[in-house]
Amino acid sequence: PRSDRPVEYDAAAGIWGVHGYPEAHEILGDPETFSSDTFRVIPKPLMPDAEEFSLAGFITQIDPPEHGKLRKLVSSAFTRKVVADLEPRIAAVTHELLDAARDRGRLELVADLAYPLPVIVIAELLGVPGGDRALFKQWADALFQRDAKISLTEPAEQREEDIDAMKSWRDMSAYLADHAAERRRNPRADLLTRLVEAELDGERLPAGQVVNFAILLLLAGHVTTTMLLGNTVLCLDAFPEQQDRVRAHRAAVPALIEESLRYLTPFAAISRTTTRAAELGGETIPADQLLMVWLGAANRDPRQFPEPALFDPGRDPNPHLAFGRGIHFCLGAPLARLEGRIALNILLDRFDRLRTDPDDPVAFIPTPTMTGVRRLPL
Ligand code: HEM
Repeated sequence: PRSDRPVEYDAAAGIWGVHGYPEAHEILGDPETFSSDTFRVIPKPLMPDAEEFSLAGFITQIDPPEHGKLRKLVSSAFTRKVVADLEPRIAAVTHELLDAARDRGRLELVADLAYPLPVIVIAELLGVPGGDRALFKQWADALFQRDAKISLTEPAEQREEDIDAMKSWRDMSAYLADHAAERRRNPRADLLTRLVEAELDGERLPAGQVVNFAILLLLAGHVTTTMLLGNTVLCLDAFPEQQDRVRAHRAAVPALIEESLRYLTPFAAISRTTTRAAELGGETIPADQLLMVWLGAANRDPRQFPEPALFDPGRDPNPHLAFGRGIHFCLGAPLARLEGRIALNILLDRFDRLRTDPDDPVAFIPTPTMTGVRRLPL
């Protein structure tokens, strides 16, 4: 959403929208005032069976001091080195997927590369069978492809799709709990084993947290890098002079990816709740309010980014908020950046020109909080 006001109350929905960069920056830097535990204010009927499925126990929704301990434990398993070691495998999978697309004689970027690549990589890293991909997709679709209408003022009805989503949580939790239990008995060289064995001050991750973190990684692997790759290719098509530039100067690929994240921010919004009243953007927000922090809007705030509608990979620095900021800063950012860099370089190597198919339209993900292509025929 665009608004001239950095902070705005939507009385119909009972939600505060934050659109400005300095305001978003401040919120993400102050977890004591702006809590990630949205279950503090979202009435339970909107989140059926939240307890049963321990939705509230995800790292993204946990506040300090518990958050810090959990984050240290999972980071000790999901390290930069673990991610960096994936480079050759990411390149090999990218080539395999593009070979298969060539043999089929078409390239639809999302189905042929941007979707399967991150799923295969994260499944292999965790140590769950890549062959179960169809299952992961089914779960991820049930969880993400719902229309994300959020309102605190309208009574929530039990919708079919919410029930489907809850079934998916249950199935996904059971599946990962089985795999985790297996690793406790028979450790292997995979991330799931590292998670069950992670230790901090003599304490291990509770079994439920291993499952939750694995779910988060598997889901994150499904949507985020997919959006990043699709969006970046879309930008190269829309700004051909930038495509020429990056072809001539491959060292600019990482900066191109950062600008793509600013320009088309995959997670367009994240939520927070106020633990106390706060002054922000000229408004007074009372305690216990729900805030939607529009990262996509903040990333185009002219107070921070001159000529925000210009796609300019030369921005330096480029302090976009696409991966969040502060204590919840995206743990998968190194992996997303690595996958983006490798896949983009291989696409530029294998094709003289990346261009959308003028006869076959691009389709976008309809969910307002997500910015990404669902279909990108090249
Ligand atoms: C957190 C975006 C890829 C795992 C976040 C947050 C954002 C984000 C905005 C902060 C949420 C908040 O503060 O409420 C993205 C984008 C990605 C991406 C745009 C790709 C372009 C990934 C990948 C993984 C991942 C590939 C893992 C495989 C996580 C985790 C957190 C997180 C575990 C929670 C960290 C915490 O709460 O301490 N991500 N993400 N992300 N992301 Fe990502």
